[in-house]
Amino acid sequence: MLVNIKQAIALLKQSQVVAIPTETVYGLAADASNDEALQKIYAIKERPADNPLIVHIADANQVNNWAAEFPPLAQKLAKAFWPGPFTLVLPAKDSVSKIVRSGQSTVALRVPSHALTLQLLKQSGLALAAPSANKFTQLSPTTAAHVAASLGDDVAVLDGGACKVGIESTIVSVKGDDWQLLRLGMVSEASMEALAGRPALKNQQNLPKVPGQHSLHYSPKTPIKLFVSRDVLINFAKTSQKSCAALLIGEGAKPICKYVDLPKQADDVAKQLYSALHELDALNVAQLLVETPPADSEWLAILDRLMRAACQN
Ligand code: TXA
Ligand code: MG
Repeated sequence: MLVNIKQAIALLKQSQVVAIPTETVYGLAADASNDEALQKIYAIKERPADNPLIVHIADANQVNNWAAEFPPLAQKLAKAFWPGPFTLVLPAKDSVSKIVRSGQSTVALRVPSHALTLQLLKQSGLALAAPSANKFTQLSPTTAAHVAASLGDDVAVLDGGACKVGIESTIVSVKGDDWQLLRLGMVSEASMEALAGRPALKNQQNLPKVPGQHSLHYSPKTPIKLFVSRDVLINFAKTSQKSCAALLIGEGAKPICKYVDLPKQADDVAKQLYSALHELDALNVAQLLVETPPADSEWLAILDRLMRAACQN
């Protein structure tokens, strides 16, 4: 069910959920200070309660409503990457709902870069908790139609068009002068390292709990097989007993099965990745054949999503 911004605000103020557009993926939003509304997110997504939510805010001035500390390094990163596909995990104030942070001592915050959602945040005066607007472990939605396909027509959707970045935000935890990368995204590790003036902490023992990074994640219904070589993919399609469809990256020979081909440009692939997988999934073939991207750092977040999507087999 599509709603306009006025209806979206009214619903959010009545403890209802609304799917909202962001530049990364659509989020299933609720008032981040309202436990009754937050429970609905978990129920609709069928999401485990130990998987905390990102709180979306209108600007960096609101960080102090949620975080007990906003260290200079976090301020620097926020200034560089907000609004944008970048989430900061900071020590939470005691007042932050235990539901939004799943009982953790930290809270995740993001200023999204989407005009309609920024308008929604400003006009409503609310902060919005929003995980991706899909059922738990399924593919994330990058259009209003994807949201309806995953969550059903009863869920209210604010349609903001196709998402421009296309994969979920980079998540970084900051404590004092130290930072850790919790989820890869299109804000690169190199760009954060340049600003931070030091590399990310990699010490496994000190890793904060990163709930929700289940390896089975971002998955279409159809099993995925990854191929480093186009020739091997083509040969698999030719000789397989199963019905196949393929996702190709860049130029080259084509397989005999149906395929979607994406340009060899990381930003473009990120933007179209989930749409392509939704489209291939809808073909109801037995096997999806996916060509892996180049091993360069700009492709790491895309490779991460593909490996998680392929994890089911
Ligand atoms: O791009 C995005 O981040 C999208 C859009 C809607 O903003 N949201 C999104 O939400 O991807 P979700 O729930 O699918 O993923 C949020 C991730 C989860 O893996 C969760 O564990 C992590 O953020 N997270 C949230 N709060 C955290 C916290 N306090 N500490 C560590 N990780 C946290
Ligand atoms: Mg998600």
